[in-house]
Amino acid sequence: MTDTGSLLTSLECRACCTTVDPERPVGTCPTCGHTLLAAYRLDRLDGPAWWDSLLARPPMLWRYAELLPVRRAESIVTLGEGYSPIVRLRNRPEFPGLTLLAKSDDLLPTGSFKARGMAVAVSRASELGLRDLYVPSAGNAGIALAAYGARAGLRVRIYLPDRTAPTVIETCRAYGADVVTVPGTIREAGATARSQESGHGGFDMSTLREPYRVEGKKTMGFEIVEQCRAGTLPDAIVYPAGGGTGLVGMYKAFTELRTLGVLDRMPRLYAVQPEGCAPVVRALRDGASAVTPWDHPSTVAPGLLVPAPFASERILEAIRGSGGGGTTVSDDEILRAMEALAGEDGVWVSPEAAAPRAALPRLVREGALRSGETVLLYHTGSGLPFSLGQLRASLDRGPP
Ligand SMILES: Cc1ncc(COP(=O)(O)O)c(C=O)c1O
Ligand SMILES: [Zn+2]
Repeated sequence: MTDTGSLLTSLECRACCTTVDPERPVGTCPTCGHTLLAAYRLDRLDGPAWWDSLLARPPMLWRYAELLPVRRAESIVTLGEGYSPIVRLRNRPEFPGLTLLAKSDDLLPTGSFKARGMAVAVSRASELGLRDLYVPSAGNAGIALAAYGARAGLRVRIYLPDRTAPTVIETCRAYGADVVTVPGTIREAGATARSQESGHGGFDMSTLREPYRVEGKKTMGFEIVEQCRAGTLPDAIVYPAGGGTGLVGMYKAFTELRTLGVLDRMPRLYAVQPEGCAPVVRALRDGASAVTPWDHPSTVAPGLLVPAPFASERILEAIRGSGGGGTTVSDDEILRAMEALAGEDGVWVSPEAAAPRAALPRLVREGALRSGETVLLYHTGSGLPFSLGQLRASLDRGPP
């Protein structure tokens, strides 16, 4: 029974070609443990006609319902997420000939782009009868799961690194979630979560270890193409990469739109990572097909402190398949980019979200971005929870 029009058919493992029935709760591939991705009957859609019909739909991510996994409208758990504005940034003399755009996911419910993935994943989880969810998080994913879990009336547990800002912990608790803090990074939080939860019936909502968060993130790509209809599709998207779901999601969006005959050229995807934790950029430079874990990770941007992203094969595939690349930025450059965006453009974003702006000088110098191109900076999170003074003080103190 479907009334959203979802064309979901199956979940597929790209590593071993196993196909899984999507009507039962499942995390990773039962055969090999890799990421499962949703597949749709794209041949049932008249792509260009469908694309035009979207104009009449409400400005939220559920407008793409046919290519989302939720079957029944009553299952949708929503706080009005999606369709964040794209704003034009000021031309900068140091980046001659570049037109700069920013996608403002800092304005989404819960203050970050994590709302997209969690809205879709929590809706689907509750549709499949799951009542008890958990996630290891650097902060924003935890807040988003706690909020959507509260909305859906589900039990939620969040595993956070012990250095997570108290405001994040309190926000998760305000939404009614249980919080467990774990020494180390999200990697250790993930390991503790999986061992403590084992056998207790909770469902793991970790990035790319469940199949539907990436479907929510896919709408980032759909929106960019839709909002840039008038011929201003960016040549490049510069994105702050941690767990990599955003890159995998946008690449999946562009690939589906190409199959549907809606898109003929794909923006190049660039991953920006901090110098103190750059496993994806290192793998790109080494020509590797998967990342190796980053030793002694440290950065001022909590969401980018991901030393060993799961499903890195998919992240690298997205970057390479789009013709993009990656670069690193220092923590100091990130903080200066936060100030530059605030002072020059009136935009106050989180350290992660400022990383793409910080990367522009290097990407221009390296020839990745060229005069005449339109470049979209993906603003993934709001600056409101952050104090620049505290962030600077944490830099002066150095890593713990
Ligand atoms: C604000 C912000 N930006 C970027 C990221 C990294 O996102 P992704 O997992 O899509 O690479 C995170 C992850 O926590 C985040 O909170
Ligand atoms: Zn597999």
